[in-house]
Amino acid sequence: MRGQPARWLVTGSAGFIGSHLVQALLGLDQTVVGLDNFATGHQRNVDEVRSLVSAEQWARHRFIEADIRDLDACRAACQEVDFVLHQAALGSVPRSLADPVATNRSNVDGFLNMLLAARDAGVKRFIYAASSSTYGDHQELPKVEERIGRPLSPYAVSKLVNELYADVFARCYGFPSIGLRYFNIFGARQDPQGAYAAVIPRWTRAMLLDEAVTINGDGETSRDFCFIDNAVQANLLAATSDDPAAVNQVYNVAVDGRTSLNRLFEILRDALAEFRPEVSRVQPVYGDFRAGDVRHSQADIGKARRLLGYQPSHRLEAGVRAAMPWYVSRFATADEACG
Ligand SMILES: NC(=O)c1ccc[n+]([C@@H]2O[C@H](COP(=O)([O-])OP(=O)(O)OC[C@H]3O[C@@H](n4cnc5c(N)ncnc54)[C@H](O)[C@@H]3O)[C@@H](O)[C@H]2O)c1
Repeated sequence: MRGQPARWLVTGSAGFIGSHLVQALLGLDQTVVGLDNFATGHQRNVDEVRSLVSAEQWARHRFIEADIRDLDACRAACQEVDFVLHQAALGSVPRSLADPVATNRSNVDGFLNMLLAARDAGVKRFIYAASSSTYGDHQELPKVEERIGRPLSPYAVSKLVNELYADVFARCYGFPSIGLRYFNIFGARQDPQGAYAAVIPRWTRAMLLDEAVTINGDGETSRDFCFIDNAVQANLLAATSDDPAAVNQVYNVAVDGRTSLNRLFEILRDALAEFRPEVSRVQPVYGDFRAGDVRHSQADIGKARRLLGYQPSHRLEAGVRAAMPWYVSRFATADEACG
């Protein structure tokens, strides 16, 4: 990629995954336009990326504060772009249950705006954040891309609709895209706060601040937790693959692991205890199961391995070890975590 600099648009670039994509692309001397409306993203993530790349690399970055619900803004952002990595969306199953209209506006209307704008601007390939929630009530494990169930939440509907639109744009307009079904991505810069925070940063912060760690349900709910570096790798491979069979597909992005919430709690507590020995005594409390959550999730990643050459660099424990120093430095006090 260094030898072939291209122009990239990363939507959701002030968020968790988007900010890592910007960081990786700038590190590879690419030109990057970032777009975000700060709905759930933060200026501090943009600033942190700036601090992690060279001044020369940062000079190839431009940030647009804009909303993907605005088609004109999407069109402006797509001008002269080679690749789009579309991450902007309202995440979280519970958020979508509380406000399905808001989720639909950003995740469905906004997605369609981006697809249209990218098509009309002649973008070479559109890579987008799909979701493991698309498997819905399908019981089979591990999850294989071709077999999905019925969605269990408005969020899951929105992510399924993304795949349907991308597929229709390929059939009707020949517009090339790839959907990446992320499975519980985690790492630095993932927001620990608010009702809709993801479990790894939320529990880690709670332990650091001596607050209760609540497990929803009996703790035997399981997930395929996937470190951020693996998700970045999948995006770059999806954008640059020269195998025509790899395009207009969806792929699981995970590690093919299955970890219960009870086990995850132990892994986080043990990793954190290396920095704060006192947390080794912490015990979780148990709450109600959460509506809309699938019970078990584990990905078959064979398709991404075969067609994209995807090879996850970190399994759960290695990812937790890599992320922990960042969590410890950022979540040390309640104020800092608010950022
Ligand atoms: N983190 C995961 O485990 C996971 C799993 C499956 C899918 N995803 C998907 O990956 C993508 C990135 O998720 P994330 O974890 O980085 O979440 P995030 O909330 O940190 O990032 C999403 C970003 O999109 C921005 N955004 C939201 N609505 C917008 C709008 N209308 N216009 C412009 N910007 C908008 C937010 O401000 C935020 O910065 C999302 O599409 C999400 O649905 C994430």
